[in-house]
Amino acid sequence: MRHLISPLDLSVAETDRLLALASDIGKNRSAYAHVCDGKKLATLFFEPSTRTRLSFESAMLSLGGSVLGVSSADSSSAAKGESVSDTIRVVSCYADICAIRHPKEGAALVAATHSSIPVINAGDGGHQHPTQTLTDLLTIYSLKGKIGDMTVGLCGDLKFGRTVHSLIHALVRYPGIRFILISPPELRVPDYIRDGVLEANHIPYRETTNLDDAMAELDILYMTRVQKERFFNEEDYIRMKDSYILDKEKMKLAKEDMYVLHPLPRVNEISVEVDSDPRAAYFRQAQYGVYVRMALIMTLLGLEGTVC
Ligand code: CP
Repeated sequence: MRHLISPLDLSVAETDRLLALASDIGKNRSAYAHVCDGKKLATLFFEPSTRTRLSFESAMLSLGGSVLGVSSADSSSAAKGESVSDTIRVVSCYADICAIRHPKEGAALVAATHSSIPVINAGDGGHQHPTQTLTDLLTIYSLKGKIGDMTVGLCGDLKFGRTVHSLIHALVRYPGIRFILISPPELRVPDYIRDGVLEANHIPYRETTNLDDAMAELDILYMTRVQKERFFNEEDYIRMKDSYILDKEKMKLAKEDMYVLHPLPRVNEISVEVDSDPRAAYFRQAQYGVYVRMALIMTLLGLEGTVC
């Protein structure tokens, strides 16, 4: 039985196979309409979500399966004090596969340890968000025709932004990746990412506070929101929340084939005037998230070979 807790739970070859499957799903959705007939996906979301939960549900329904789940801690027995390990033991009796989002780092791993069905980490605190990373990789591949040999700018809250942490873990495994890490000093990437991933893999990178200066160098700009829910005091959040606002003027500094990604939701960090720029790819990215989750569900249920 396989789980997906970190992007590193899939080898590069497995990741590439999954992305190829997701690409095919995007082109031939009807061919996959009954792959999961009779299968059930449980979505356990103890933190708010729009894209991840609904794209998982859309993915399973598009595969012919069905979905059940909880959309907040308040509406489940977590509110009565039930542990993640007890919850997943019970959910294992009701579903064939589970996606879990939880505010505590490591919660998805705890669930996987006690589960008898595949567990997918749909975001654990400020730690990891591997299905967003698969979405990001498919988006980059679809837009650029490759993953690698490119300069990726990561901008915003690089400290608490779990999508950034997972994306760095995944991208360093591809050749020729360089990073420009753009953040306020207080929101730099954590040491365990800088030292344990970038330095350890000899990845070229630089850290800066200046987005304008970086723009011309970038092939991909990955914007992120300042993660209000992870701040200990509101004053700090208010001081940093508008550190970067991507607008039309800044886009003029970028290459013609530089694409803007954002895991969404956005708050103020991308002006709506950028949405009509052909290089704004964040809503297409949300669509890719459905294909990648369809491919992941098939892969973890061992059904990836069932469609020719
Ligand atoms: N990208 C993402 O995780 O969005 P949601 O929080 O809406 O699921």
